[in-house]
This record gives sequence, structure tokens and C-alpha cells, in this order.
Amino acid sequence: MAEEKNDLMEKIVSLCKRRGFVFSGSDIYGGLANSWDFGPYGAQLKKNIKDHWWKFFVESRDDMVGLDAAVIMNPKVWEASGHTGNFSDPLTECGSCHTRFRADQIDMSQPCTHCGKGKLVEPKNFNLMLKTFLGPTEETADVAYLRPETAQAMFIDFVTVQQTSRKRLPFGIAQMGKAFRNEITPGNFIFRTREFDLMEFEYFFNPKKSNWEDLFENWKQAIEEWMKAVGIDMERVKAVEIPDGERAHYSKRTIDFEFLYPFGQKELFGLAYRTDYDLAQHEKASGQELRYLDPETNEKVLPHVIEPAFGADRAMLAILLSSYVEEKGDEEIRVVLKLPKKLAPVKVAVFPLMKNKPELVAKAKEIFDTLKGDFTCEFDDNGNVGKRYRRQDEIGTPYCVTVDFDTIGAGEDKSLEGTVTVRDRDTMQQERVPIERLKGFFAEKF
Ligand code: GAP
Repeated sequence: MAEEKNDLMEKIVSLCKRRGFVFSGSDIYGGLANSWDFGPYGAQLKKNIKDHWWKFFVESRDDMVGLDAAVIMNPKVWEASGHTGNFSDPLTECGSCHTRFRADQIDMSQPCTHCGKGKLVEPKNFNLMLKTFLGPTEETADVAYLRPETAQAMFIDFVTVQQTSRKRLPFGIAQMGKAFRNEITPGNFIFRTREFDLMEFEYFFNPKKSNWEDLFENWKQAIEEWMKAVGIDMERVKAVEIPDGERAHYSKRTIDFEFLYPFGQKELFGLAYRTDYDLAQHEKASGQELRYLDPETNEKVLPHVIEPAFGADRAMLAILLSSYVEEKGDEEIRVVLKLPKKLAPVKVAVFPLMKNKPELVAKAKEIFDTLKGDFTCEFDDNGNVGKRYRRQDEIGTPYCVTVDFDTIGAGEDKSLEGTVTVRDRDTMQQERVPIERLKGFFAEKF
């Protein structure tokens, strides 16, 4: 069973590399450990996941607004938020071979798991923020940090966003973008990296008017709905309550949504009740009032927040693992990514039946041109149709359109002139669809 599971991880990594979804970064220079580049299909899939998230949590709600803040903020932000002091993991190393480990992830009483003999040294707290310097000198005064979470901008910009959007509590501010952490143990492909895409929001509310337990429950359900909508296998998801002493310094309650990856059950997304901790800290440190003037009571309120946080790369990994299917056919195994149609990097692939028949190629190109503005399309005339289907199945393309001799009126059945074959990825059923109906046909499917 364990072998089968690891096998799945290997298959996903190999598919991602083979088909250009994700491959190692800086490859021509021998790579850079745990850095990954997202190729054409991977970039499109991640973008589709992020777009879906934005639509689901921001655009389709009237109590949510967006933000796109700077990655590098004034270092005072991280002082006030507690990240400079508290955003750390316990680091230990082997006294003999000097391999480093996260002390909370290993048995400290045992010898080093790398060399098998060295004793592990007393752990020290290692701050995970990635440091950089602003300007041409590398002096302490110029130290800045790459944000380890996107959340802080939602707190420091709360008043500006609230006033310019004229939103009333409760409402949320959402942001997505790169976050950076100098992880001690990055690994497991795109599961834990030092730079990753974060999608999160702070849902601000007046604690006198809204009950945090109810909001927490509502957001828990909304997260579960989103996970289902993007095809995450809910059988492999567990909501785990994080006990006192193990939560982040700002959280009064945290649930981790854990996913059963081939390498173990580990965090996928998080949900936290951050109280008014961050706003209060920033008020104190900046001397600026970060309150909401309640128009009904005229009272100035320091809002509390519930924070759902999603890693886009982990979402992509869980979606790939959930959608990978091998179907045994008569002669060979069909590998299919049964991605939700909306997420597929290519929505429609268009083929001429044969590559060396200019009339078929010209017609297929014409169809490709009419569809490409509305659906992400790919034109493919390499190899035979069977091979093209397999290539498209493997990247999760929901529909393939084939132009054949009947389409151009050169086949036996003249009634099929002006129609094409549309093949469904999941059922492998084919149907004839008139070319002029293709746009409408696909519009109904996505
Ligand atoms: N603002 C709250 C926050 O950042 P977190 O649990 O530390 O919470 C949120 O991170 C999410 O970001 C995680 O649930 C996970 O999906 C993702 N994530 C965290 N560290 C990551 C890493 N090193 N590589 C990839 N994704 C990561």
C-alpha cells in the first residue's frame, strides 16, 4: 500500500516534468534545491485555481474586496505583528555530520537519522523570514523582509480599504501573491518551498455584533465547498483542531485542513481566529487609529478577524493527486487527469484527422481560430489521433475536436458536412456537432 502511494507521487512528479507542468528551477545551472518553475500547463492550471478562488471568495460576494499590496513592507510591520520575534521553527543539527532538522519533526532522543551516529544539539529558534537589503548598501538600517504571509497588508491597510470601499462590518479583504519563508526542511515537490503563492483573506467583524464561533463555522463550510468545487478528494481531507500551545502566536482557534498526501497526512489549508491581535499591535506600534466607526452606534470599534489561508501550490498538488486516474484498457493503461473542466489548462484541443491533408489542416486551424478567444485551445497535428487523445487525457483536456473528411464534404456521408467529432475526456464518447454550434456547445460545458 505504502509503495503504491509513493508510486502515485512519483507518477505526478514525472507527469509534471514530462508535460511541462512543473520542473526544477535554474535547471541549466544544476538547479536550486526545492525551487520549481511552472511551465505552460502548470502556469495555466495554477492561474485557473487562483482565478477560481478569487471568483468564489471575492467577486461573487458583496462582503469581500480585493487588495494587491507590496511584497516588501516597512520592517516595523513585522516587529509589530510579532513575526520578528515569533515566526520561527526549532532548528537542531547533528553534532557529527551537521545535517539540519526541524526539532519538532524528529525524535531528539535518537541519533541523527542521516549519519546514524551523531547526537542532535539543543534546538534553537530559527526565524523563517527571508531577509534582504534595500538600496546599494548592506547595512542593518536597510534590512527588509520578503513577506512571510500576505495577511499583514490587510491589517495595515484596513482603514484605507474600508473607507474607500465604504464596506460595513462584517466584510473581508482578500489578497493573493507570493510569500517567502526560509524553511528548514523544504521538500516533497511543491508541498513545502521557500517561495509560494498564498491566497488568504481577513474577515473583519464587530465582536459585539457577530459571534466568532458562528463565523468560524461558516468559513469552515465555505472552505469545504471550495475544496469540492476544485476537485479535491474530500475523502482524503481532515479538519484538525490545533491545540493550545501549538497555534501561531496570534491565534485563539485554528483548524488545519489536512490532506492525505502520498508522503503522509499534512496541512493543506488553515483557518484561524486571529482576534483583534494584529490591528491592536499595529495601532500600538504605529500610533495610528485602525478602528471602524459603527454608523449605527457611532462607536469606534477595533474589529476582530477570521482568517482562511490557502497555499495555491498545495492546492494544485492536492488537485493533481485527486484527479490522477489510470484506466485499464484492452491494450494499455489510459492516464487521465480528471480535473474539473473549469480548471483544465487546455479546454479544447483541435485536430485535423491527418497532418498531410492541407484541406483538413486549414479547416482545423479555422475552427481553432474561432474558439481560441473564448476557450483556452490547443492545435495539435502531431502523430495519430489516438496518440493526440492520450496526450490531451494526460493533461486533463476535457474536449477534443477532430476535423475529418466528412467535415469538409469529402467523406462518404455527405450529411455530416460542416460537422466535427467532439470527444469527451471522461466518457470517451464521441458526438458530431455542427461547426456553427461549437461555441454554444462548449459555453454550456464550462
Ligand atoms: N496568514 C496565515 C498563514 O500564513 P500558514 O498556515 O502559515 O498561515 C497558510 O500558511 C497556507 O500557506 C498553508 O495552509 C499552506 O497551504 C501554505 N504554505 C505555508 N507554508 C508553505 C510552504 N513553505 N510552501 C508551500 N505552501 C505553504
